[in-house]
Amino acid sequence: MAGIDAVVLVGGQGTRLRPLTLSAPKPMLPTAGVPLLTHLISRIRDAGVSHIVLGTSYRAEVFSDHFGDGAALGVELDYVVESEPLGTGGGIRNVADALRGDTVLIFNGDVLSGVDLQALLDVHERRRAEVSLHLTRVEDPRAFGCVPTSPDGLVEAFLEKDPNPVTDQINAGTYVFTRTALESIPTGRPVSVERETFPGLLAAGARVAAYVDATYWRDLGKPSDFVAGSADLVRGIAPSGALPGPVGERLCLEGADVATDAEVRGGSTVGRDCRVGAGARVEGSVLFDGSRIGANAVVRRSVLGFGSVVEDGAVVEDAVIGDGAKIGSGVELLAGARVWPSVMLPPGSIRFSSDSS
Ligand code: GDD
Ligand code: MG
Repeated sequence: MAGIDAVVLVGGQGTRLRPLTLSAPKPMLPTAGVPLLTHLISRIRDAGVSHIVLGTSYRAEVFSDHFGDGAALGVELDYVVESEPLGTGGGIRNVADALRGDTVLIFNGDVLSGVDLQALLDVHERRRAEVSLHLTRVEDPRAFGCVPTSPDGLVEAFLEKDPNPVTDQINAGTYVFTRTALESIPTGRPVSVERETFPGLLAAGARVAAYVDATYWRDLGKPSDFVAGSADLVRGIAPSGALPGPVGERLCLEGADVATDAEVRGGSTVGRDCRVGAGARVEGSVLFDGSRIGANAVVRRSVLGFGSVVEDGAVVEDAVIGDGAKIGSGVELLAGARVWPSVMLPPGSIRFSSDSS
């Protein structure tokens, strides 16, 4: 891994995870007790890459305030800030001056994966490729970059978010670029690596290699995947070198107070200083620091923002609750409900199943 830099794209606005991403960018949201990005940084470090450049834009200061120079994680971190978002390709091009070597590993910042980075680099070298892509197979490829390959493992096309995908093989969001390929991306304007750079390279006859595997993989960009990914980390299904506790049915952080007869399972995280009341049931959920769940309340597959409150007997399922919001006793929040920060839903037997801002 000598001479290889890593670049992580973390400049997106995390729209699909609003309102959680109003206070922090998506890669900084806590998953299994640490920012999502910490899991990725630890995997990059454990693969032997120590120089990591973060391509930031939206709320850039949140990253540097938390990670500083990276020493606490045993890496050397550099930050390159886009004052206007340059898109994924523009973001890659924009870090050129911060790179030290001629081969670059590039990561989307919202993916949990078990990909063998050395194996991806080996394919890149063996194929003498200009760019190599990590691919995985998913049930529904429509939300991803669809990537058909030839029998000898070269990429034939790149079709971003195609409504009629020709294969279930998708872009898993980890790439190897030669410096020359990276510098071929135009500067000074937004560029989509998926819609412009990859199709352009292929049209120009560039060698783009594929590395397909079947290890753990999940994009945490939408609420259902965010809770599932966090639960997979807690249960040890998703690999990470940064878990703050032993794997198991639940992870309770410092100062968390869970009533003895409360049931917390399914890979739930109970954040710092959270309280879970008597008889409450919490399943596959993420409780950010300082949130509280009352007696006999039920929380399933949901995210509770910082300092939010679910009062006695309320039911919260497949929902996202903003920081400091309060769900009154008896309220039922079901599939797809999102509560904006600091909103108070008064007690009562009311059911919400769409946006309730
Ligand atoms: N620096 C920078 N600047 N980063 C950006 C920008 C930008 O303008 N826009 C997005 N990003 C970052 C996001 O923060 C995220 O980490 C990454 O680029 C990908 O953006 P997403 O918004 O998460 O894209 P997606 O999930 O819809 O699709 C992408 O990922 C899929 C795999 O997870 C594409 O690369 C698909 O082709 C791919 O299948
Ligand atoms: Mg994504």
